[in-house]
Amino acid sequence: ATHKLLLLPGDGIGPEVMREVEKLVRWFNARGLGFETETDLVGGAAYDAHKVSISEDAMKRAQAADAVLFGAVGGAKWDNVPYAVRPEAGLLRLRKDLGLFANLRPAICYPALADSSSLKREVVEGLDIMIVRELTGGVYFGEPKELVTLEDGSQRAVDTQLYTTGEIERITRVAFDLAKKRRNKVSSAEKSNVMKTGVLWRQVVSKIHKAEFADVQLEHVLADNCAMQLVRNPKQFDVIVTDNLFGDILSDIAAMLTGSLGMLPSASLGAVDPVTGSRKALYEPVHGSAPDIAGKGLANPLAMIGSFGMALRYSFGLLDEADLLDKATANVLASGTRTKDIAPPGTNAVGTQELGDAIVKELNAL
Ligand code: NAI
Ligand code: MG
Repeated sequence: ATHKLLLLPGDGIGPEVMREVEKLVRWFNARGLGFETETDLVGGAAYDAHKVSISEDAMKRAQAADAVLFGAVGGAKWDNVPYAVRPEAGLLRLRKDLGLFANLRPAICYPALADSSSLKREVVEGLDIMIVRELTGGVYFGEPKELVTLEDGSQRAVDTQLYTTGEIERITRVAFDLAKKRRNKVSSAEKSNVMKTGVLWRQVVSKIHKAEFADVQLEHVLADNCAMQLVRNPKQFDVIVTDNLFGDILSDIAAMLTGSLGMLPSASLGAVDPVTGSRKALYEPVHGSAPDIAGKGLANPLAMIGSFGMALRYSFGLLDEADLLDKATANVLASGTRTKDIAPPGTNAVGTQELGDAIVKELNAL
């Protein structure tokens, strides 16, 4: 079978880290996997070429692809372009048009990097948790949303946290499906003590658990306590499912447990098509375009490579291949081959391409 990938490298270090993924695609194709890739522009690069943040043609290709791999967008060069075509608009358009409601952010702490964490080695070594964040609803999108000036000159701001049963059901199913393939535990984080959306969230998660996933362990946790537990004892968690706002914050906390921004992959998934059984998906590193190091060959490609690994796992069901890639990554890190962002002070660091080559070499050896 052929697997259609759309590569959107974007700006800054985006194209540099995407090049390393292309090496891996070639490696897997040489082993008989049928990846077909197309490449298009997004962000500032699309603006420079077409005065848009993503072209309609690229959007069509994204709709037709089995998975989109996205690098990063943005940079000072485009700080003053019109708001509607700013680089981030391309990413927002992709999320919206592909219906990507589930954001998966793994926080993995490779033993070799446990000393780069903000926490003590014993607290994070071997950490492997998954945060599932609802991405298209909640307080970032709810109406009314306004900032108004009152008669006396003072101001009033309103944001609205709004969730429907259907929105909570579908994100809950994503979390339980993942847990079944992991350590069989879901922690659902909300604030049902003070928020009606929290009350509904807890009800719906419990209902889906009982009806469809009774064999998975479920715990309800208040979001503030979840934040505390993530720092106190993160290894107690397997899958954490939560809304858009709490997910934004909890996933940033989890990110700091693992070391560098250059290590963090992510996936954003859409609904399962009832006919084909497939789902739209976009995979991207958590980091941005890193203008401070762009063009210097210093970027850590592992967040982008890890995002490709998530595509292998979640879009193509290539679990052995995904495991192999993870193993190669862990071995390369353990051997001391590191980019500057994860190399201990005073040790030699390698560049983006050398780290990518080291992964390929390790894959050959495994
Ligand atoms: P950033 O993530 O680009 O960089 C933050 C810091 O982390 C920098 O010092 C950078 O050098 C370092 N860093 C990031 N990725 C790295 C990697 N792979 N290897 C080694 N070091 C790495 O965030 P920043 O500086 O806030 O934003 C820069 C630009 O990126 C802005 O235009 C921003 O809007 C955009 N951005 C885009 C995102 C996206 O495309 N999804 C997400 C976040 C920011
Ligand atoms: Mg954030």
